[in-house]
Amino acid sequence: MKEVPIVVLDFGSQYTQLIARKLREEGVYCEIVPYSEKIEDIKKRNPKGIILGGGPASVYAEGSYHPDSEIYNLGLPILGICYGMQLINQYFGGSVIPADHQEYGKAKLSFQSDHGIFKDTTCGQIVWMSHGDKVDKLAEGFCKIGFSENSPYAAIADEDRKIYAFQFHPEVYHSVEGTKLLKNFAKYICKCESTWNMGSFAKEKIEIIKKQVGDKKVLCAVSGGVDSSVVAALLNEAIGDKLVPVFVDNGLLRYKEREQVEAMFKSKLGVDLITVDASEQFLSKLKGVTDPEKKRKIIGETFIEVFDKEAKKHDGIEFLAQGTLYTDVIESVSVKGPSKTIKSHHNVGGLPDWMTFELVEPLNEIFKDEVRKLGLELGLPKDMISRHPFPGPGLGIRIMGEVNKEDLKVLRKADVIMLEELHSTGYYEKTWQAFTVLLNVKSVGVMGDNRTYDNTACVRIVEATDGMTATFAHIPHEILENISRRIINEVDGINRVVYDISSKPPATIEWE
Ligand code: XMP
Repeated sequence: MKEVPIVVLDFGSQYTQLIARKLREEGVYCEIVPYSEKIEDIKKRNPKGIILGGGPASVYAEGSYHPDSEIYNLGLPILGICYGMQLINQYFGGSVIPADHQEYGKAKLSFQSDHGIFKDTTCGQIVWMSHGDKVDKLAEGFCKIGFSENSPYAAIADEDRKIYAFQFHPEVYHSVEGTKLLKNFAKYICKCESTWNMGSFAKEKIEIIKKQVGDKKVLCAVSGGVDSSVVAALLNEAIGDKLVPVFVDNGLLRYKEREQVEAMFKSKLGVDLITVDASEQFLSKLKGVTDPEKKRKIIGETFIEVFDKEAKKHDGIEFLAQGTLYTDVIESVSVKGPSKTIKSHHNVGGLPDWMTFELVEPLNEIFKDEVRKLGLELGLPKDMISRHPFPGPGLGIRIMGEVNKEDLKVLRKADVIMLEELHSTGYYEKTWQAFTVLLNVKSVGVMGDNRTYDNTACVRIVEATDGMTATFAHIPHEILENISRRIINEVDGINRVVYDISSKPPATIEWE
């Protein structure tokens, strides 16, 4: 088994992968394993430190998740985060109780600078709290090393045994110096070195794909988005002509998208896509369906049916490659730990029993911005890499309620106008994602001297770094005004445009 400097135990927090990602940014390789990983398997990785992540449960609840207690006897530095802190405190004889008020949001962390974990960080730094339980009696051998207004034990440590624990989440974006704290743990306390980078990740993935695939063929589901393009490029490097790249026109694509994707693959990667027109199949299955989760499931299943049918036309295909990202995985199901489902992302959740493909998902442990770096590392051109994310279920989840051809036409027209305005003002590159949603809410308007009673388009433009959190983009009013005016003037069937000013959380980026 490969050496892993930091092993992260997953107790189900939505943020666990962010810990790994922050450490990777510092060049420290780490792996996330289920909380129940056996001590022998942890030891085989020869770690220099262990991190216990957060989780939604209470350590005192029946059936709560506990790690193999032998981890505490390995003599390795340990960092507990939130639930991980409560586990440590409980294990060493302290107590954990429900907090009077659940604490969510920003807090100011105070500490004394002589605790090494805080090296080069600021007393009073903003950290992100998200917990319902708190440490009550401190475990023996531990002392308080940091506090906030509402958390007297915001950080505790047994520095002799090099065990540290934070009540807050250093891994989330809102913990302003959180990356430094994780870096201090890995490099200063555990003495890990910075040896990991995207180049080594690419090489490793190519080797893994070669081994996994052998002399068989891989059907690669290509959408034209960054993720599947990077997967295709990785496969191209790894297995060359054993790659069968299939693009499905599901009828839920944007304006002229099919033609653009075909041309992009030909010119930039030298790859001829096999395009399957399955639009009628998708649209007929979606007829009459209004529930967002049902729509997602139908679209996901139909993709698989189409791929299966296509695969039967070629000899030797045993694998299906997809550009599933960690964000898709964590919000659908927990791969390694016990976290909660937010949405069923279409390319996650396993394959139906009748299907015999094995999955190749080389990106399922990394985030979008890391995928972009990987794409550049593989030599993909910038315009391919900087395309905004587009979800697998496409416009199907951007039309509220039932999806039909007329609404798709209307939405495409509105969406391309919005995108033209963003491109021409330079805001496309400045934002994470921009799209239009057809709300299927009718309202009264007046055009010329006539009353209208038409649909509403909602423009959603967000800023984000990984899609896990997002804020609505502060687009200048003149640009929004132009978008609105052009959509209402140029698109029949829309008489009102609204701008979505919600952030994630509590909203999500897509509407369904
Ligand atoms: P949400 O709506 O969950 O979206 O905040 C987070 C990011 O994921 C994209 N997204 C998807 N991508 N398949 C995908 O490949 C999906 O089913 C899917 N659903 C959402 C979304 O566009 C945003 O960038």
